[in-house]
Amino acid sequence: MDFESLFRPGILNTKPYTPGKPISEVQRELGLTDVVKLASNENPESPTSAVIDAVCAAASQLNRYPDGACFELTRTLAAHLGVDTRALFFGNGSNEVIDMMIRALISPGENVVFGHPSFIVYPLTTGVQFESGRPVPLDADDRHDLPAMAAAVNDKTKLVIVCNPNNPTGTYNTAEEFAAFMARIPSRVIVAVDEAYYEYVLAEDYPETIPMLAAYPNLVLCRTFSKIYSMAGLRVGYAVGHPDFIAQLQKTREPFNVNSLAQAACLAVLAQPEETAARALRNRVWLEELFAGLRSLGCDVTPSQTNFLLVRIPGRNATEVQQQLLARGVIVRPMNAFGLGDGAMRVSVGLPAENQRCLEALKEILA
Ligand SMILES: Cc1ncc(COP(=O)(O)O)c(C=O)c1O
Repeated sequence: MDFESLFRPGILNTKPYTPGKPISEVQRELGLTDVVKLASNENPESPTSAVIDAVCAAASQLNRYPDGACFELTRTLAAHLGVDTRALFFGNGSNEVIDMMIRALISPGENVVFGHPSFIVYPLTTGVQFESGRPVPLDADDRHDLPAMAAAVNDKTKLVIVCNPNNPTGTYNTAEEFAAFMARIPSRVIVAVDEAYYEYVLAEDYPETIPMLAAYPNLVLCRTFSKIYSMAGLRVGYAVGHPDFIAQLQKTREPFNVNSLAQAACLAVLAQPEETAARALRNRVWLEELFAGLRSLGCDVTPSQTNFLLVRIPGRNATEVQQQLLARGVIVRPMNAFGLGDGAMRVSVGLPAENQRCLEALKEILA
């Protein structure tokens, strides 16, 4: 049977998403017991005990469907962010939110502008959605080239995605740059800012986008509970946007797309803002130690406002180095799928001992 002919154009050319290797797979394949994973920009700290308790308590109700409207979570998060409850839309991770926006907005012939290299899901989902991706290269400093992205918008552009700070580079665009960009984008074009690493950013000139929503009805923010909140396994992300835009998006989601354990966990973690702030500070200390260690080994490392570092090793093939790290039980992310070829790898910030292990293995490899 010719299954290929059944699928929409764009799907056959799309390469499936390759996630960071799970620890268990590396243990199995290489016969290693002690493996550290610095490959998926997860928070290396466990979920807080309040989150674990909330999940355990909610488990007794697993025979019931979750609250499809996320009633409590919507009210609590709206108060936390200072937005209208109708401005919020939840997904099974912010990945699903981005995916749903692209699928709901894009018809054949229309396009989505995004930076390159950036989060792999943008080329992937736009590939599936009528090959609608319109990637715009980053600038020489590995940052989104916002003027070039504004210039790439044409009369068929429905959506522009700005990943700020950007994955996989860790770089960001300033409030001033972003305001100038918004002023150039036609109001009929939705601008989605992917702020998956928002809570990690400490730079003072990083844009605060929620206050901009009032001036720009076409602005939508995407955030997640996967990163700083240490809840990647539960899958919750959300969008904040104009209530009329969100109302349309609500029609496109699966009725129970955020599970009940996840909703309980989000409520627990939102009650711990001091812990979230402390996690951002601890991450920054560990990031700076890792940054300094990598630089002292001769690596070229891009300054980052996130929980990961983009690393280039002059004169070395980063994919080979990544394989050699893997053989030593350290999983980092090769950047081929992100379009950076063999020239770079991405290292997520781990706990101090994990970062040390990565640096020691790298020192051995580069010796
Ligand atoms: C920039 C960016 N956006 C979105 C996501 C998706 O996160 P999640 O679906 O876990 O919320 C990620 C995950 O790595 C990311 O790096």
